[in-house]
Amino acid sequence: MSAVLLPLADDGRLATALATRLGARVGTLRWTRFPDAESLIAIDPSLDGADVVLVASLNRPDDKALALRFAADTARELGARSVGLVAPYLAYMRQDRRFHPGEAVSARAFARFLDESVDWLVTVDPHLHRIKALGRVFRIPADCVSAAAPIAGWIRDHVEQPLLIGPDEESAQWVERMASAAGASYELLRKVRHGPTDVEVSLPDVRRLRGRTPVLVDDIVSTGKTMCAVLEHLHGRCEPAICVVIHPLFVGDAFESLYRAGAGLVVSTDSIPHSSNAIRLDEPIAAAVAARLAATSIEIGP
Ligand code: R5P
Repeated sequence: MSAVLLPLADDGRLATALATRLGARVGTLRWTRFPDAESLIAIDPSLDGADVVLVASLNRPDDKALALRFAADTARELGARSVGLVAPYLAYMRQDRRFHPGEAVSARAFARFLDESVDWLVTVDPHLHRIKALGRVFRIPADCVSAAAPIAGWIRDHVEQPLLIGPDEESAQWVERMASAAGASYELLRKVRHGPTDVEVSLPDVRRLRGRTPVLVDDIVSTGKTMCAVLEHLHGRCEPAICVVIHPLFVGDAFESLYRAGAGLVVSTDSIPHSSNAIRLDEPIAAAVAARLAATSIEIGP
């Protein structure tokens, strides 16, 4: 039996695109809430022998995690031979150490939770900083898809004379790859975070921006404070900047705040559904899922 993709919440569009590329079918996953806020999950009952692929970007993870676990457990009870997870955005990876006494190291705890829920994971550019590879926290096979090539393609097609700017040293891992694939130069800034909504970012070298379009690239935009700090430095000194976001979490009015701070355009990948989505990831994600399903078939047998 071929794979069955089950999208959670608003991940239906990605699931359909993946199913088309994989020659798989999309099954139903209904998630309803009782008045007391408990969840009822009901999935496609014809899963006997199927390789089930849950598709759930893990923004709003506290909301979604339990629903995901219920769906995975139910798929197994209904006869699925394997249950994988495509989570383009993988939450909790930023809390990768105990910053203050007594704090949870959520990256490890959340990885353990997913280990116990599914057989494999495919995600996109997870926020890895002190944890160098997903294999250090996951026991299940966990594959990372890079958004660098699709983003570089978008930049090549839409921006003349780009200069890529990463807001902090961690962004080197994304910005260097994108700049090299787009044939562009880049600059990395330094960031000091004083609190969740209080960040300081070093000044970009505006002389390098003469005749160029600044393209700010970050893996996550949450409150928007990081990108706004860079946009405020640039405002009036060069062409309006273009902001490119891999995972558009956009909490509250974060998206609008980027335009208020002087962005000329804000685009994102479709790792999380949002009106700014302009860069599709279904092709590289489907390739990673196809490889994982092939490996599963070899391990479990036809
Ligand atoms: C953290 O280092 C990430 O790469 C992002 O820079 C950060 O999550 C952005 O958060 P915010 O939009 O809240 O400033």
